[in-house]
Amino acid sequence: MTVSHALEADVLRRQDPELADVLLGERERQSTTLQLIAAENFTSPAVLAALGSPLANKYAEGYPGNRHHGGCEFADAAERLAVERAKALFGAEHANVQAHSGSSAVLAAYAALLRPGDTVLALGLPHGGHLTHGSPANFSGRWFDFVGYGVDAESGLIDHEQVRTLARTRRPKAIVCGSISYPRHIDYAFFREVADEAGAHLIADAAHPMGLVAGGVAPSPVPYADIVCATTHKVLRGPRGGMILCGGELAERVDRAVFPFTQGGAQMHTVAAKAVAFGEAATPAFAAYAHQVVANARALAAALAAEGLLVTTGGTDTHLITADTAPLGVDGRTARGRLAAAGIVLDCCALPHGDGRGLRLGTAAVTTQGMGSREMTYVGGLLASVLRGGTEAARAREDVRELVAAFPPYPR
Ligand SMILES: Cc1ncc(COP(=O)(O)O)c(C=O)c1O
Repeated sequence: MTVSHALEADVLRRQDPELADVLLGERERQSTTLQLIAAENFTSPAVLAALGSPLANKYAEGYPGNRHHGGCEFADAAERLAVERAKALFGAEHANVQAHSGSSAVLAAYAALLRPGDTVLALGLPHGGHLTHGSPANFSGRWFDFVGYGVDAESGLIDHEQVRTLARTRRPKAIVCGSISYPRHIDYAFFREVADEAGAHLIADAAHPMGLVAGGVAPSPVPYADIVCATTHKVLRGPRGGMILCGGELAERVDRAVFPFTQGGAQMHTVAAKAVAFGEAATPAFAAYAHQVVANARALAAALAAEGLLVTTGGTDTHLITADTAPLGVDGRTARGRLAAAGIVLDCCALPHGDGRGLRLGTAAVTTQGMGSREMTYVGGLLASVLRGGTEAARAREDVRELVAAFPPYPR
């Protein structure tokens, strides 16, 4: 059964046409515009089927074999599959697959290792840190004393000397490595060395690259970090959710930090969908996909640079690109609006030095659709032309519609 059939034939259309129209509208939006948001992807029909399964009805507080509710035999089986597959996929001794989101996973990691008031070293927010890395608007900034390291003004690369100096002078209890917008591989061995020198725990927040790690195209944080947090959406292509990996010695602390400390009942339909996604990510087809994601990002970054955008760090190792549009005479916020009108959907991001904003884009979703380097070069040219005013938004919208029609995200 294809996704479109599922929606159209669904009881929802008869019972609640108003909401059915909303869902069909979203399906139409996703399949007729260009999805370049770096944190998004198209899950498989099998993942969607697990999300819409009867496990959505099940309460299962606790862990397999030790639940607070009856009737958990199938919930247990689903969670055991997800845990075993995650451990095998990433070579981890322990996996917790219950975290509701990437933020919940980070919260649980802090809960497992830290006390309120502890000092934590993380990439500063204007340099690509996530809200959970010390934003004053987030629990992390309110409950911990965050110290930010940054990226070098010239190269855009993490300033390793600054990390080492801050670790020596501020003696953090934990160091966080991971970012929402850093396009290069992270040197986990370096962070481990600095954490050991400072007597700090190392937490890798690998929400973005985890799918690339699964596909063998990015280094793994698992051998280096005490705790690895990740999302299961993004390049990994699973359901929206979180995951935590660690060694056996921290397993119990991490599990207790998720339930009962920060969460109640796990969302068992999501846990089942994570199991499906981990199964998919273990296949040669997924490794080929992950490699193509990076090849596409490199092609897109090269096209954008050739069009005059300032691509941070001069390129990418991952699915993710950040770029300053100022050389084209537009700021990031205006650029995002113009591109949205043309059907090109992406994000703005902070630029590390100065107070301008740039664009953040990624190739996970378009690669799932089957696009390749040729399409990326075309998209780079179209995007720049829209920003320069060379192509009217309405004309570009038609070009986008024509392009994506050849790459439907789901079978029709
Ligand atoms: C590095 C990093 N950490 C945490 C998160 C939070 O994930 P979620 O939105 O699922 O809470 C994200 C999401 O983009 C992220 O990129």
